[in-house]
Amino acid sequence: MAISVNLSAIITALGGRHAIQQLLNVGPSAISNYLTRGHLPERAKPIIYAALTKKGYQIRADDLEILAGPPATSSQPLHSDTHFGKRILLIVAGGIAAYKALETARQLQQLGAHVTGVMTDGAKQFITPLSLAALTGEKCYDSLFSLTDEAEMGHIRLARSADLVLVVPATANFMARANAGIADDLATTILLATTAKVAMAPAMNPAMWAHVATKHNFASLRQRGVHMIGPVSGDTACGEEGEGRMCEPADIAAAAMQLITPQNIPNAKDHAKSPLAGKRIIVTSGPTIEPIDKVRFIANRSSGKQGHAIAASLASRGADVILISGPVNEPAPDQVTMVQVTTANEMLAACKAALPADIAICAAAVADWRVQSVSDQKLKKPEDPDAGMMLALCQNPDILAHISSASNRPKLVIGFAAETENLLQNATKKRQRKGCDWIIANQVGGDADPVFGSALNQAMLISANGVDEWPQMQKTDLAETLADHIEAELTR
Ligand code: C5P
Repeated sequence: MAISVNLSAIITALGGRHAIQQLLNVGPSAISNYLTRGHLPERAKPIIYAALTKKGYQIRADDLEILAGPPATSSQPLHSDTHFGKRILLIVAGGIAAYKALETARQLQQLGAHVTGVMTDGAKQFITPLSLAALTGEKCYDSLFSLTDEAEMGHIRLARSADLVLVVPATANFMARANAGIADDLATTILLATTAKVAMAPAMNPAMWAHVATKHNFASLRQRGVHMIGPVSGDTACGEEGEGRMCEPADIAAAAMQLITPQNIPNAKDHAKSPLAGKRIIVTSGPTIEPIDKVRFIANRSSGKQGHAIAASLASRGADVILISGPVNEPAPDQVTMVQVTTANEMLAACKAALPADIAICAAAVADWRVQSVSDQKLKKPEDPDAGMMLALCQNPDILAHISSASNRPKLVIGFAAETENLLQNATKKRQRKGCDWIIANQVGGDADPVFGSALNQAMLISANGVDEWPQMQKTDLAETLADHIEAELTR
């Protein structure tokens, strides 16, 4: 039997997805399933009830609704220990997804945040200030020049009063204005005046999202430290399908709360002063898939587990991670910007668009070959059962080599080498040939010890300084070990 719960709130209260995975002893995909369905298995109920109670939360026993946060202690005020009482300035910009800002406000409040609404003129075409005010129980601010507002709370004070300024939805126009530093209404003025963290949840038509101007604004805002939540692929409100769809309100709320409660991110306490914080890191992951015809393809074996674990580990230490992945079943880790691609050429284009970066880690299993001319129709088998079939292939671009020799090369470029024999020699040659700084080499193809799809991996780090052999471990631990080495390199 399954029980309906507000899982986003529970995940945040327990300290993130990793914490709840460990608690229930399940993988990340199970948590994604629970989130999609809004249900938890019955067996999870007593475990979660006990864990939340131990943390000091007041829980309703039947549906695990969080009624109150842990009590403050005299030495530790409530807001420093939990996300309760955090102040979020929710800016609603003018896009069709504006109606989802209302649900986002509700979710944020359920997570214990205090939400104040700000609306652009465009947003008011979609929802009314009254609806946001009614939901938040707070005046919704919408005018830069309202004398009353200025008397009650000037825009500078409004901007400074927040722990987080969250823009939902961030339209193409809003991102362009924010990037240009235009301050022609209350919302954009707040962005210039605030010293708080800023997060945006972009939402727009896929063609607008793909436009070079939007890509530029997005990249430039991120480089300035704006945290981007999504967008994701799927149906967009304008009826087209593709990238540009806004993340779901529950995901936006959970990501926003994590930004202002770093102690809720797994490992964040330990890595509070990580040299990785704020570093822009490109991670490639998964396979690439090269079409032969409308139904067939060439691909390498890869689950994306290792690349995704690396992205998750770096993000949990505060890095600004762009995860560029081929098709995999792994869920997108929290706090990373996900770019989904299919072919090697698409992966290369996404990497080029993501540069410049401080670090690049190429963990993807890129197909070495692609078919020279992809057939528009399904290729027919010859009548003769003995007849062979010739496919003309050409080489795919080497993404790792490209990044290593780029004019805006990241300071640290890391590749992977999966070898079936002569691991050390082959991987050492690969490091030189590709021009990367480090190679993480692992033996594959052993019958007893498969790496593909497994949760385990064993590798060695090969650099100009020599070889560091690592014992067999979980892929998530290997990701942490690699992140530790990168941190050490950054502080050398
Ligand atoms: O040449 P090989 O595929 O063994 O090299 C492995 C490393 O190179 C990995 O880091 C992989 O992500 C990267 N690679 C790449 N583009 C290719 C082939 C491999 O980035 N076309």
